[in-house]
Amino acid sequence: MSATASPGSDPYAFATDREEEERRLVAQARLFEPITEELLRQAGLGPGMHVIDLGAGPGDTAILAARLVGPTGSVVGVERSPEQAAMARRRVADLGLDNVTFAEGDVAAFGDLLAGQARPVDAVIGRLILMWVPDRAAVLRTCAERLPPGALVWFLEPDLTYDYAMPASPLWAQVQVWILGTIEGLGAEPRMGPQLYRAFRAAGLPGPTLESRTIMRGPDSAPVWFLVNIVRAMLPVATQLGVTKPEEVDIDTLEARLLADLAADEAAMIVCPMTAAWTRVPG
Ligand SMILES: C[S@@+](CC[C@H](N)C(=O)[O-])C[C@H]1O[C@@H](n2cnc3c(N)ncnc32)[C@H](O)[C@@H]1O
Repeated sequence: MSATASPGSDPYAFATDREEEERRLVAQARLFEPITEELLRQAGLGPGMHVIDLGAGPGDTAILAARLVGPTGSVVGVERSPEQAAMARRRVADLGLDNVTFAEGDVAAFGDLLAGQARPVDAVIGRLILMWVPDRAAVLRTCAERLPPGALVWFLEPDLTYDYAMPASPLWAQVQVWILGTIEGLGAEPRMGPQLYRAFRAAGLPGPTLESRTIMRGPDSAPVWFLVNIVRAMLPVATQLGVTKPEEVDIDTLEARLLADLAADEAAMIVCPMTAAWTRVPG
């Protein structure tokens, strides 16, 4: 997303500063790693499988999948941003993993990538990607129509409309309005998690298994940085869309103010509920 993006063009709202975006995604990935691993294992991702990870970002989901499939398996991450793909490759090299590669491209066209795979694809996975893809129906249809019978289709997506804190102070409520206003202004889908079942069915896939996980923490351990990082990354686009402006957000003091409100209200922070949906391509 460049600073000149407009609603209806590219809904991915975070990309104004590539290095900052990479750091943000890596920190965010650590937060979601335990639930991602649990739900990939539960879905049957395991040794020897050949996996495609859509919207790989700096590579965390692909790296996790590479650990799960082990040395006899392999993973290809698909990522549109050359900077993110480069970072993912650097991280994989640093980790000494030789069963993960990254392909640059739009996930809407990942059918072309399927054709070039040296071995049959056992699983297509993705985390926090369908919400950003305008033609997510085409992505799921490609899974339904182009993957071999028995292949696993697995996505993990959020509901960003759920409460961010309970109780939510006016500032916590305001942060939610900024984030939702920006996502909706860009034409992305803030409630992709709850819509996964219908999206799978509309693509002709069998009704998926659904599991949701929600991270909640009190003021002493709340990952308020997660929310602040999102607001920081979105701010230029939010300003452009007229959702808010830097003077109103005061990003450098936002984390301290949100934490102070949590402590004063003895409130719990709620990190967006995440829903995994998975199914197997019928024979
Ligand atoms: C929120 S990040 C998630 C990254 C990773 N899946 C994770 O959970 O850590 C979404 C990523 O998808 C990429 N992306 C967004 N739209 C895309 C598209 N249409 N095709 C390929 N990549 C896309 C962005 O560049 C970004 O790296």
